[in-house]
Parts: sequence; C-alpha cells; structure tokens
Amino acid sequence: MTEKTLAIIKPDAVRKKFSGAILARYEKEGFRIRAIKMRALSKAEAEGFYAVHRERPFFSSLVSFMVSGPVILVVLEKDNAILDHRTLMGATDPAKAEKETLRALYGESIEYNAVHGSDSGETAAFEIPYFFSTVELIG
Ligand code: CMP
Repeated sequence: MTEKTLAIIKPDAVRKKFSGAILARYEKEGFRIRAIKMRALSKAEAEGFYAVHRERPFFSSLVSFMVSGPVILVVLEKDNAILDHRTLMGATDPAKAEKETLRALYGESIEYNAVHGSDSGETAAFEIPYFFSTVELIG
C-alpha cells in the first residue's frame, strides 16, 4: 500500500553536511519526495512534536537538541514507506543500528541520531500535518 511518512534530517546531520547524502539515499531506495522544507524549530514546536516523550528523562535535552540548528522536514512516499523508512534509518542508537543504515552511517549517539521517522500510520497522520498543510503536499 502506498504510504507517506515524515522524515526529519536532524540538526546534527544538517550541521555535518549529510543532508544531500541522506536525500540521495531516499531517492536511491525508491522513496518519492512529496514535500520538503528547512526550518529552525521553535521550542514550542519541538515540544509539541515530541509530546509523547514529555515524561521521559531525555525530553528537555531532546528539545534543546532539536532547536540547536535547522532541520529538514521531508514527506516521503512509497509502498510500505513507514516500515521501510524505519528499516533504512536503523535502530535509535547508532551503535546498535545495522551497517549501512542512516543512523549507523550518520548518527553519533542515541540522541544525536541524524534522522527521525514516523513509527506507525497513526504517528504519520499526526506528524505530517504538524509541519505541512494540504497545499504543500504533492499527491
Ligand atoms: P526519534 O526517533 O526522533 O524519537 C525520539 C528521539 O529521542 C530519538 O529519536 C532520539 O533522538 C531521542 N532519544 C531516544 N532515546 C533516548 C535516550 N535514551 N537518550 C537520549 N535521547 C534519546
């Protein structure tokens, strides 16, 4: 089934100039880019986006990281996009991620892990409209 998922190239990866390599990899792996923009997130935007994690001990650190520099927000589409993007990203902790996954290649720690991806259809249905309006989405 054709699905859309939200990807975020996080501040660490943007700072290290990995954005181009990550976007190229998405296209190589068969994802279509349906919307894209660079944003400097506000604290409130980052807190709202990660609201499910607000009770976690790492929440305030995660929010500080996500506002530490611009991010690239991307809507990706393909068959099985949500799971396939999670497989392509690898485990949350880059040290545990499979070789050649985005986090193994570009992440440096469980927090500075280069990319985010929606983890379910329900999450994608919250995350995509959080950042993109209908007129900004192709297809
Ligand atoms: P992401 O997939 O964007 O979802 C939540 C983020 O919180 C995660 O990637 C990491 O950046 C961060 N995170 C998850 N677990 C931890 C942890 N144990 N310590 C610090 N940051 C974490």
